[in-house]
Amino acid sequence: MTKIAVVEGDGIGREVIPEAEKILRFFLPDAEFVRVELGFDQWKKTGSACSKESMKTLKEMDAILFGAVTTPPDPEYKSILLQIRHELDLYANIRPVKSESVDLVIVRENTEGLYSGIEEIGEERSTTLRVVTRDCSRRIAEKACSISIQRNQNKPLVIGHKANVLKSDILFRDICIAVAETQNLSIRSMFIDALCLDVLLHPDRYDVIVTTNMFGDILSDTCGYLTGGLGMLPSANIGKNHALFEPVHGSAPDIAGRGIANPIAAIRSAAMLLEHLGVQDAAEKIEAAVQQTLALGIVTPDLGGNASTRDVGENIFAKISGNQ
Ligand code: NAI
Ligand code: MG
Repeated sequence: MTKIAVVEGDGIGREVIPEAEKILRFFLPDAEFVRVELGFDQWKKTGSACSKESMKTLKEMDAILFGAVTTPPDPEYKSILLQIRHELDLYANIRPVKSESVDLVIVRENTEGLYSGIEEIGEERSTTLRVVTRDCSRRIAEKACSISIQRNQNKPLVIGHKANVLKSDILFRDICIAVAETQNLSIRSMFIDALCLDVLLHPDRYDVIVTTNMFGDILSDTCGYLTGGLGMLPSANIGKNHALFEPVHGSAPDIAGRGIANPIAAIRSAAMLLEHLGVQDAAEKIEAAVQQTLALGIVTPDLGGNASTRDVGENIFAKISGNQ
């Protein structure tokens, strides 16, 4: 039996995930759904952001639907999402950016770089180690190449890096180039800062962008500009044995608890989960329902409307389930 973990997490995770879960349950009527409580709220309640059992449960699942977690900038508190990505070795963070005129995908290395977690915090001096290894660079480059080949858009694979300043990125860039060459893919090597502007000016030039952990994090929020904001962007965290699907956005404490968060990023993440499990036509049906709902102007305030999270979720669900 297919097993799915549902993690709402903190803040708007609790509001958007129920809308995505409803759709998952529709397409997976026989799956077992397991709720897992973790995050900052859980830490406040129990002193642990994610218990050992919860981590074990996550490892037993075929896929995880994840909302968002709050991470306070406190030296004593470690990001639980980073821990999950490390423990489950979710090495590829796939972030599609899609709208009428834009269709690109960011492939972000998800286990090392500046988010290696190797840090020394002091009063006068703090350091964070930026780790780039051959193995992790190679596997993310291979993933990006296979996505590029599959998409077949006749556009070069773009490598985003800062090898001029960060010598650790020379290794990353060179491995990406070498892997792309073995696949006969054309590549375009770009400095990440220039890339951030160019992708906004000329999104049509881009298809697959491969980059390191933190650059991918920043670039994907930047690309939110191309699609109407963070409420629209889904993502997949894929490893060899595990897969976790989550909106790109965080727990949005500024709007949490008001029922106005845009659930589309979470719903599109559910669509990526269904695609990953090989559920035929689900992703297309979900995207068609999202498009119809957008066309009707049933949208949350971030997109200029006055619909609630639930209104948007229910409209999308009704179109999928044939009740509208
Ligand atoms: P954020 O993504 O939560 O919010 C940034 C801005 O976008 C806010 O103004 C928010 O209201 C808006 N926004 C985000 N998602 C939205 C949605 N679905 N609908 C409408 N508006 C939306 O990022 P922020 O504010 O930097 O971080 C807040 C907390 O979330 C922090 O504790 C941070 O560590 C955490 N975070 C967690 C992530 C995760 O769990 N994957 C990712 C990013 C941040
Ligand atoms: Mg981010």
